[in-house]
Amino acid sequence: MAAISDIDKTKLPNHVAIIMDGNGRWAKQHGKERIFGHQNGVASVREVTEAAAEIGINYLTLYAFSTENWNRPKDEVDALMGLLVSTIHKEVPTLNKNQIRLNAIGNLKSLPENCYNELMDAISQTSKNTRLTLVLALSYSSKWEIIDAVKQIAEKVKKNEISINDIDEKIFESTLCTSGIPDPELLIRTSGEQRISNFLLWQIAYSELYFTEKFWPDFHKEDFFDAILDFQNRERRFGKTSEQIKVEN
Ligand code: FPP
Repeated sequence: MAAISDIDKTKLPNHVAIIMDGNGRWAKQHGKERIFGHQNGVASVREVTEAAAEIGINYLTLYAFSTENWNRPKDEVDALMGLLVSTIHKEVPTLNKNQIRLNAIGNLKSLPENCYNELMDAISQTSKNTRLTLVLALSYSSKWEIIDAVKQIAEKVKKNEISINDIDEKIFESTLCTSGIPDPELLIRTSGEQRISNFLLWQIAYSELYFTEKFWPDFHKEDFFDAILDFQNRERRFGKTSEQIKVEN
């Protein structure tokens, strides 16, 4: 198990994204309802956010609710929304104390009104913080985001604000809901599943992927440090050769 002292602070990823998975299975393992897993998942959210701030990560994005999650039983969706509202509300003073800025990506307008309002309130109350940006992906899916970006660009072409030949990576990225947020260098998924599940498909083009068997409520600070350490031992080549990378460094 890695400790904070094992981390090389000069080789940190600027942005870490996490697919928090396995709350339901964790609850089942403990003979409880699924929501018990989500409730305990909040403690891991707190712990990992603290760990990221402690080592000096600048952006942490958490996949908290996908577009597809709306298809879960109504009881679970309601309970998750309730948990989000109460957690966001409760955590604002701690976020401010630790200089953490809250942000959110996704189809936020599709959230229940109280959840949307609580979120906007917390985003505005933490907007001046500069240590770590915590991005919650809520009612988010990458395919939704990409289609939405295409529509925005088509609209600009239609209004003659840009021509088709102007469309490049920069314009495309500026219409994604992650505009202004650097791409994650590291993507972590818990619970043993090895898939991306419609998360940041454009943004993870060059991300390192890290999968762990641990269920999200069992994922603690040391597990996060393990993932960072694993990242630090990888060679990122971006299409170049190993020899070229060694000369550059
Ligand atoms: C995936 O586990 C987890 C979710 C869909 C929700 C994550 C939510 C939280 C950790 C709580 C609230 C978060 C914040 C940011 C306040 P799963 O239910 O898919 O687990 P399973 O695959 O074992 O069924």
